[in-house]
Amino acid sequence: VLDFGSPDSQVIARKVREYDVYCEIKPYFITLEEVEQLMPKGIILAADPKNPDAIGKMDFDILKLGIPVLEVSRNDLDIKDDDIDFLRIFLYFECQCTGNWTVESFINNSIEEIREKVGTGRALCALSGGVDSSVAAALVHKALGDKLICIFVDHGLLRKDEAITVEKVFKNTLDINLIKVDARERFLNRLKGVTDPERKRKIIGEEFIRVFEEEAEKLGDIEFLVQGTLYPDVLESGVGASGVVKSHHNVGGLPEDMNLQLIEPLKDLFKDEVRKVGTALGLPDDMVWRQPFPGPGLAVRILGEITEEKLNIVRNADAILQEEIKKAGLYRDIWQLFAVLPEMKSVGVSEKLGRTYSNAIIIRAVNSTDGMTADWVRLPYEVLGRISDRILKEVEGVNRVVYDITPKPPGTIEWE
Ligand code: XMP
Repeated sequence: VLDFGSPDSQVIARKVREYDVYCEIKPYFITLEEVEQLMPKGIILAADPKNPDAIGKMDFDILKLGIPVLEVSRNDLDIKDDDIDFLRIFLYFECQCTGNWTVESFINNSIEEIREKVGTGRALCALSGGVDSSVAAALVHKALGDKLICIFVDHGLLRKDEAITVEKVFKNTLDINLIKVDARERFLNRLKGVTDPERKRKIIGEEFIRVFEEEAEKLGDIEFLVQGTLYPDVLESGVGASGVVKSHHNVGGLPEDMNLQLIEPLKDLFKDEVRKVGTALGLPDDMVWRQPFPGPGLAVRILGEITEEKLNIVRNADAILQEEIKKAGLYRDIWQLFAVLPEMKSVGVSEKLGRTYSNAIIIRAVNSTDGMTADWVRLPYEVLGRISDRILKEVEGVNRVVYDITPKPPGTIEWE
């Protein structure tokens, strides 16, 4: 897929892959020699209606190679049932693709590649419990078995039962070599008295690297590091025509001076494909469909100082929220959903206690495609009502629930 600077290139590439045909996005200024080396079965020009002149800048000799070419924009691909499916015709008839790029073939090829690369060496993976690192670990484990060692740092800023689930799935179900580091006290101590959001993030990032390095040192010589980098991350680092949007930040910002070679088994996949691979590898739905969760965890959802008491409040409120949204069948339609504990109290009244002066919980639910912009979700009133009732009844120390209706921009998704 030749990218002329339109974000639609990704939509087009995903559409092609839905036909079980592998494709890659390349910038329009790719050279003739590079195309000859790749020898694709077909070329799709992903035109950018906002920048029609870009097409004139490509090397037209590429079009003379005898490779079938298609001229499309995203709208062309909005194919209705009774339309002639020209993309299928292009892929299967003109390009003679066979549609053999499936989840199973991807897994098998990856296993072979990883084994070849790693040989008799050992690989390390920082498991966060998120979709990407979980699927990457499961895939590499399939290739390397016990030669993969996963390190899971419980920094105490995780959601309810998260640490237990990760351990259960990876150690018990998948039989992965997992080192769980209980660093809860250590993180909480370092965060004591810290209220500035940027300082919090910095401390957590630094401490994470320190814990990880200490564990890695105990293990002795390791040559490889597994990372759950996805194709959109690769594209963002400047593979497409749009150039560098933001430099790729890896999970938790792992140590650079450890001299580890990277294994990035998901770097050709889009998120929906990663989920399919995860399911095929036997990961539970709960893990495969997990929403994005920031590295600094609940620390950016508790405003002001982090304390054990505040962590409990936000954790319990969050658990109720997730449960009710899942019950209502809305979970998979929402990009991110969480509870925030602001640094403020308000006056309330309770049958048991009379006048109260306690915490508020803010509920945030947003939809987004890439986290760069977002809109708040129009949750049904009845669902909001049930969530509010349960939080007020079940979470001690909360006497008020509010719903955040701020889009991004001007707000960010997280509160800190
Ligand atoms: P904001 O709050 O900037 O968040 O609108 C955009 C997306 O990024 C996630 N986020 C993070 N993810 N480490 C991460 O791995 C972080 O420090 C971090 N901060 C925000 C956020 O959850 C949302 O999906």
